[in-house]
Amino acid sequence: MLIYTSMHGTTEKVAHYIAGHLADVTILKINNNLDISINSFDRVILGGSIHMGSVQSSVKKFCAKHRQELLSKPLALFVCGMEKEPAKQQEELRLAFPEEINQHARANVFVGGEFLFEKMNFIQRMIIKKIAHTDVSQSDIKYDIVNSFISTIEL
Ligand SMILES: Cc1cc2nc3c(=O)[nH]c(=O)nc-3n(C[C@H](O)[C@H](O)[C@H](O)COP(=O)(O)O)c2cc1C
Repeated sequence: MLIYTSMHGTTEKVAHYIAGHLADVTILKINNNLDISINSFDRVILGGSIHMGSVQSSVKKFCAKHRQELLSKPLALFVCGMEKEPAKQQEELRLAFPEEINQHARANVFVGGEFLFEKMNFIQRMIIKKIAHTDVSQSDIKYDIVNSFISTIEL
């Protein structure tokens, strides 16, 4: 199954792209309900996005709540983000999931992201203008990384 959360829809887009390339995937968005039952699924793909250096708290809570089940199944992790520096991308990815979950995963990748100004609120626009020096919507999803992630899951 593929479980994700998304603020402006980019992780959702990547999640559907991944699910569309795999056979038989149930796809589910984590909302406030963390009572998702993953027991009946034979593998889990989990995705979130980075804001101000951190993944959504719902992803963190989901990992804490489902730790045992996640550690007992084939697992793959991805995050969306617009950080450009590879070392910082890897650090954001490392901090997004608990260490043991990261280590258990057969793949964990930073797949790029999008700035969607039309979906941002005033504060978010100000933040992005200040840190990324742009006020133009842009897409930088690394489909080459997403495609090799999909190949790893299929193995
Ligand atoms: C307010 C704000 C803060 C962000 N902070 C970060 C960040 O610290 N690191 C990063 O890599 N990307 C950052 N991003 C980029 C998002 O991760 C990117 O827009 C991503 O595609 C969002 O995916 P989502 O729409 O699924 O939530 C930020 C975006 C916004 C709007």
